[in-house]
Amino acid sequence: MSEILQTPQKKKVLSCIQPSGMLTLGNYLGALKNWCTMQEEFDCTFAVADLHAITVRQDPTKLRAQIYSTYALLLALGLDPQKNTIFIQSHVPEHACLSWLLSCNTQFGEMSRMTQFKDKSAKHANNVNVGLFSYPVLMAADILLYKPDLVPVGADQKQHLEIARDIAIRFNNLYGDVFTVPDAYIPKTGARVMSLQDPTKKMSKSDENLNSWVAILDSKDDIIRKFKRAVTDSNANVHFCEEQAGISNLITIYSAVTGKSVAEIEKEFSGKGYGEFKIAVGESVADTLAPIKAAYDEIIKDKKALEVLYKQGAEKAEYVARKTYFKAMKKVGFVL
Ligand code: TRP
Repeated sequence: MSEILQTPQKKKVLSCIQPSGMLTLGNYLGALKNWCTMQEEFDCTFAVADLHAITVRQDPTKLRAQIYSTYALLLALGLDPQKNTIFIQSHVPEHACLSWLLSCNTQFGEMSRMTQFKDKSAKHANNVNVGLFSYPVLMAADILLYKPDLVPVGADQKQHLEIARDIAIRFNNLYGDVFTVPDAYIPKTGARVMSLQDPTKKMSKSDENLNSWVAILDSKDDIIRKFKRAVTDSNANVHFCEEQAGISNLITIYSAVTGKSVAEIEKEFSGKGYGEFKIAVGESVADTLAPIKAAYDEIIKDKKALEVLYKQGAEKAEYVARKTYFKAMKKVGFVL
């Protein structure tokens, strides 16, 4: 009886984001906006995955600035550091430590099959380091330490989540129950934003064509200029369909920032030209991002206040991570 009266426990969610360069409108609409919604419903842990960033070569000064900036941006988005646990991965050493235990329970063959490893090792052929290879094991450690029920991931990270589940199941079978096997969380809304210059490719900050992507922190003028230059077709018809990939991408973006449906948008712009539509998209994106940029500019100014928050976040995270890590160590047979 008494159980019925208790408030049900919130489900636990974990996700991380790499601090590799400017975060884009694609990161915002595809993932980060959902983090903001999820904090209302779930018990959330969010981390800046800085250890993952060094699997490709990083300039130390830039890396440090990007870690700060990514952490500040998470706060600027409105993620509440009191309600959630928000921390920097390298501040909690258990991630690297657990990763070793998991590495010894992961097969070379299964890592070799990871498509992201194949892609990245082709792209960074002069630096195919062991960390790049075992990156999914570190990601499994990130996840399993916090026993989340759900992990929101985009399509490119699905395979890594699968392997984290496989590793957890295998470990539990060998040593007893230590880890929770998490499910992927596919949010109800989540837009896949494509390049503004080549709508067959995903929007990416590593794209050399700077007009192809919008940074969350871009100025209003830059945002509008990039949308004005967005590649479209010659049909001059604001209509969502496969053949009109460019205009369909703009419709997706406009729908995600305004909450209007595709049908409403097609109606609103029927008989109007692409020029007018592109400006409307640019302006609504700029208006959506403006308060985030304003909050960010304030937060990044005060490094001391930021430090207090990321240290508190690391303490909260470590409290949970330690327990899981020591349990795993004990089960494997280490002397504690
Ligand atoms: N690998 C993820 C990415 O590049 C980031 C990440 C690291 C992550 N650890 C994670 C995502 C744990 C979800 C859960 O996008």
